[in-house]
Amino acid sequence: MATIAQLKALFESFISKDDERFITYGLQIAAHEAKLGHGKIAEELRQLIDNARKKRDSAELNNTVPLVQPQGELARLLSASYPKTRLSEMILSKDISLRLDRVIQEQRHIEEITAHGLQPRRKFLLIGPPGTGKTMTAFALAGELHLPLFIIRLESIITKFMGETSAKLRMVFDSLQKHRGVYLFDEFDSIGAMRASSNDVGEIRRVLNSFLQFIDHDCSNSMILAATNHPNMLDYALFRRFDDVIEYSLPDKMQISELIQNKLAGFVVNDIDYSVLAQNAKDLSFAEITRACEDAIKEMIISKKEFVTEQMVKQMLHERIRYQT
Ligand SMILES: Nc1ncnc2c1ncn2[C@@H]1O[C@H](COP(=O)(O)OP(=O)(O)OP(=O)(O)O)[C@@H](O)[C@H]1O
Ligand SMILES: [Mg+2]
Repeated sequence: MATIAQLKALFESFISKDDERFITYGLQIAAHEAKLGHGKIAEELRQLIDNARKKRDSAELNNTVPLVQPQGELARLLSASYPKTRLSEMILSKDISLRLDRVIQEQRHIEEITAHGLQPRRKFLLIGPPGTGKTMTAFALAGELHLPLFIIRLESIITKFMGETSAKLRMVFDSLQKHRGVYLFDEFDSIGAMRASSNDVGEIRRVLNSFLQFIDHDCSNSMILAATNHPNMLDYALFRRFDDVIEYSLPDKMQISELIQNKLAGFVVNDIDYSVLAQNAKDLSFAEITRACEDAIKEMIISKKEFVTEQMVKQMLHERIRYQT
């Protein structure tokens, strides 16, 4: 039988209409049954979940902008995907959450807004330390809007030759115009970082300026996201080009508790003190805490325990802190 904690998590995800979590918990219950030797019921459950997932995916597909796979040279500059990530999977400050909701609403009403001669906000600079959700935000925006996500490989765009770099940037911005999507210039600081490594300062200025001009002149329906954890490497001129600058930070105690609770749902019994765990995760990022929780679940599986204990999580968090130093 599924545990009470598993059933509770399953109901909660059902009530909050969180399909992704509902499926995850269903699969966890199937795995639990298999572990208890109830192979037949586990297989039936998996089958049910698989069918539900297929139904949902095909419903989403009908609602989605068709994915155009980049061809030729463009394929080397961009990677395309259809993320299923949702904003509800992210733990965000109230301020960021409100701003992202607003972006989604504006994008959903893009036709009415442009019909009134207005522009939805669609050019964003995401800044903040590693592992705080910048890249995940691009996935979630694409997932919420059923748009393809194109990740631009800056390292293949920036070449030694200015003319070539400009031509490649032009290809990417042409694609923005032709294929509506979320375009993520990830680790955007690599443009800024060139400043430190290159001895030709003029060259980097030209690359930056050319990028700025493309952003300025872009009047497509696509979203442009540029993410960096070194905003100090960027010129002030760059900031001005974006409709909004969203600043991410390391999680506070409440957010840590919420993250651990989410990650361990279905794997713990009620004797976990999340505030104690949060104290043990001080200064860790969302990404590191997520990994520590996953490590604890793996530990539970390997050691054939039925639940993750507070001690297991503590140990994994301490290991993460040790990796940092
Ligand atoms: N705000 C968040 N809420 C929930 N999970 C998060 C959040 N931020 C990060 N994570 C988890 O950490 C993983 C890595 O995060 P992400 O790649 O978005 O970080 P980033 O800010 O882009 O870091 P980097 O600067 O290193 O590129 C995510 O896939 C997710 O599992
Ligand atoms: Mg990132």
